[in-house]
Amino acid sequence: MITTTSKTIIRQHVTRNICKYVNSDRSARVIRQKFLDYFLKDCNHQFIRSSPVVPYCDPSVAFVNAGMNQFKNIFVGNQEPKFSKVANSQKCIRVGGKHNDLNVVGTDGYHHTFFEMLGNWSFGDYFKTEACELAWKLLLDVYKLPSDRLYVTYFEGDEKLELEEDLETKEIWQSLGVRPDRIIPFGLNENFWEMGATGPCGPCTEIHYDHIGFENRSNLLNKGLFDLTELWNIVFIEYNRNIDGSISVLPNKHVDTGMGFERLTAILQDKNSNYDTDTFTYLIEAIEKNCPHLEKYKGLYGEKDWNNLDTSYRILADHLRMITTCLADGMVPEQNQKLRRIMRKCFSLSTNVFQKDGLVKELSNYVVDNLGHVYPEMERNISQIHQIIDYEEEVYKDLQKSAESEWGELVKGNEKLKHLDVLEAPSLIPAYKDLMKLKPKEINGEIAFKLYDTFGLDPSVIEKLAMSINLPFDKKQLMIELEIAKKKSKQKSEIRMNDLLHQFALESIPKTCDNSKYNYRKLENNNYEFEPLKVKVLRIIHHNEVVRKIGSDTFCSLLLDKTNLYSEAGGQASDKGIIQFDKAIFDVTETEKLNSYILHKGFLKCKSTYNLCVDSVGTLLVDKENRISIMKNHTATHLLNSVLKQLKGATCQKSSKVTENFFNLDIAIFGPKLTITDIEEIEYKINSIISKKLDVETMIIDSQKLLEYDDIITVPGEIYPEENLRLVEIKEKDRVISREPCCGTHVTNTSDIEHFSLVKMKYLGRSTVSLNGVTGHNSKMATENGSEISDEVNMLKKTVSENIDKPDVLNIAVASLRSKIIASETLLPVYIKQKCLKDLDDISKQVKTIAKVTLNEFIDMEMQNVLDSKVQTTYSNKKYIIHYLRTSMILETVPLQRATKMCKNIPVMVISYTDNVVQARCCVPKKFCTENFTADKWLQESAVKVFEGCITNVKGQSEKLVCNMKPKRVNIQDWDYLLKHSMQAAQEFVDKYL
Ligand code: ALA
Repeated sequence: MITTTSKTIIRQHVTRNICKYVNSDRSARVIRQKFLDYFLKDCNHQFIRSSPVVPYCDPSVAFVNAGMNQFKNIFVGNQEPKFSKVANSQKCIRVGGKHNDLNVVGTDGYHHTFFEMLGNWSFGDYFKTEACELAWKLLLDVYKLPSDRLYVTYFEGDEKLELEEDLETKEIWQSLGVRPDRIIPFGLNENFWEMGATGPCGPCTEIHYDHIGFENRSNLLNKGLFDLTELWNIVFIEYNRNIDGSISVLPNKHVDTGMGFERLTAILQDKNSNYDTDTFTYLIEAIEKNCPHLEKYKGLYGEKDWNNLDTSYRILADHLRMITTCLADGMVPEQNQKLRRIMRKCFSLSTNVFQKDGLVKELSNYVVDNLGHVYPEMERNISQIHQIIDYEEEVYKDLQKSAESEWGELVKGNEKLKHLDVLEAPSLIPAYKDLMKLKPKEINGEIAFKLYDTFGLDPSVIEKLAMSINLPFDKKQLMIELEIAKKKSKQKSEIRMNDLLHQFALESIPKTCDNSKYNYRKLENNNYEFEPLKVKVLRIIHHNEVVRKIGSDTFCSLLLDKTNLYSEAGGQASDKGIIQFDKAIFDVTETEKLNSYILHKGFLKCKSTYNLCVDSVGTLLVDKENRISIMKNHTATHLLNSVLKQLKGATCQKSSKVTENFFNLDIAIFGPKLTITDIEEIEYKINSIISKKLDVETMIIDSQKLLEYDDIITVPGEIYPEENLRLVEIKEKDRVISREPCCGTHVTNTSDIEHFSLVKMKYLGRSTVSLNGVTGHNSKMATENGSEISDEVNMLKKTVSENIDKPDVLNIAVASLRSKIIASETLLPVYIKQKCLKDLDDISKQVKTIAKVTLNEFIDMEMQNVLDSKVQTTYSNKKYIIHYLRTSMILETVPLQRATKMCKNIPVMVISYTDNVVQARCCVPKKFCTENFTADKWLQESAVKVFEGCITNVKGQSEKLVCNMKPKRVNIQDWDYLLKHSMQAAQEFVDKYL
């Protein structure tokens, strides 16, 4: 097996020049091709392309970690193979779970997070003899490896599992000419291969390569030596590891092999390390080229690499291949924290070690260039790769700014803590704060579990944290706590599962068959026909109790033998319907799936004397209108998903909800936010797909077939069924418009959606946008509303110039249209709504600008009129002025000094009110000033007192001569009253003191 080891190897210089490889072209490309040619052409195997590294149908692994992952179902007997002998080079990721090489990457020359596995498989065809022969011949005859450099290992058996020593394999190797002292047995750890905690497994035989070869070093096999490494693992899949830890025999015997491509290349290119072969040198050189200010890569390891620079080169190169592969295969860091952490590690390296922004994206180009010809999805998805790297780097930088400074502050003085990468695990901050409160003497299992469960810290991060604050940490204890928690949550869900279910199961009630939910078709007249279904009432449940019968108008649930109603799944809401019985009708308002049982909730409608009993037989009819609306919305959701991807590149569906009235799609977009223009374009595109009348086809496929498509839209993290997977496809001639695995129900032609509008858009955080869409009648209504309101706004726009002298009128019209738009919530297309609101803002601005220009004229005119006594201001005569500037209502700010300037020779007080803010100013010419009558006192005793404001001085002037009241908010409903009072008070003051 390609082993996992955490041993750090200090390299010594070795000379290896013994490889007898004769072909002049030793490039990785040729080496890979030779493998494929050998199996496909010479040995009659069929090529099956590498699966994406995202396991679509397997919840037991987070990444595809071996060539056999895509064949798991064939091995366990759930799927029929299309071919009995296949071969390929498979993209593999090993960063977690049973096969995890992440922590050693960079410290040695042959462990990687991403590597290519060359493999050949037999599904019930050849077994041990041929498998060993095929491998041996390839290595010796094709690659010309010297046999005296090779060792083979085989399984020594295991008492506990009651497995015998694999002597058969030992003999096969002997018969192939391998010397007995080079055939070594090993135990479970080394020679019994398992995919994960569960799944297919079996004894294996491994071929190891000795890079030195002076003497027999069989005693050093599997000891983590860099110059004595495993090259090829040949697994004889015969068993399945079950959840309870036991193993059971599989129906057939299979062969599963995997050879480390990078290791083979190193051997054939006579290199010490995989990083010195052309599977890596192009990347190392690219880093050097991009960072000319740094020392070049020297290939040093361990202590010799004193500043870790070479290790950093290796980590960056290794991770870049992994990141590029994952992103090309549609994995998104948003949904995969491991990938995000590895990306952050690379950003951190490029900033801190390589001091080069944008390095990660730049290097991804080199990876695509190197591997794109083997894995064309890399070339196809290059813009998606770039987009996500850019997005993640931006997020990383923002985080860096905030998190690093907070962390730095928090751990001041502790150098060790300072070096923990808070960006890799931002929750270190709250976790550390919590620890500081607790002040524990050790990180025991309980505390460690809290760090893991509440703060989401990885065991490895907890370990580093504990070390940095010098607290003992028992990792094993944490693992025990994790196990306990797992069991508890399982128990909890079992209790929650409802006692009813236990009862049903105990009574051996068969699960509710709901296959008929897909039994509908479109008739010639374009109407949909849903097949009615004869059903039998198996149980009646009322208030969580099973009852024998139920009377009219009582809310209850019926458990039927079968159903044609859809129960909520894949975001699609459950159906409504009716069950016609002889003398009654049961109105199904909702269905609920409890494990495999489907409950039909609703009311019985019948004579008050009638009772519906268990075993009654009726006909179940789907609520057609309701279902058709749901189908329209569901197909529209798919269209929105694919149009968004087409328009914005990298996107990832987070969740969806489809009901009869609308649908909601929460989707992350890695790049600029959606604009009004985008929304308009999306609507336009979807409506044109609708008008093209394209067929919506649903195919039933299995997980093997799923892997044949490159352009399916999947929900990251979603695990799809391995069998009877429904693939919903919309094509225009040969061009795929949308292809999504989906268990929902859909219209059969896009024209049935009739019309589409996006009626709501809301950003939930940085990247995720929540969109609501409507179809059919609702969409038409929204569109009508839209054009009506647009007309009104346009009309108003046209009247602006002619009404510019009536700003209040315009402002009122704007406000009323604005509230109309806001009130119409979901019945307006988003882009129209936003456009109209923008137009209204523009009108408001226009009114204000024009008002500002004419403002001075207004003020001058009004004050002149006051002076001329044309304006009947109660409190003005030739000796003083107390005036409220009426024009101020329409203005944003009012220059009161302009008003007072016009009345230089008499005491003047002006008050203004705009945007709910009152302002006041007082000026008293020197000759009117007395001890009692000054500007500040006048203002103080009137406006300031009434409006509860305060006085501000005018710079460089005596407050006795001029002062202002600080602008103060006043509610419109209080305005008239307060204004009147303030002016009265001002008048009284004049009467008394002037
Ligand atoms: N599945 C085997 C491995 O990954 C070949 O080593």
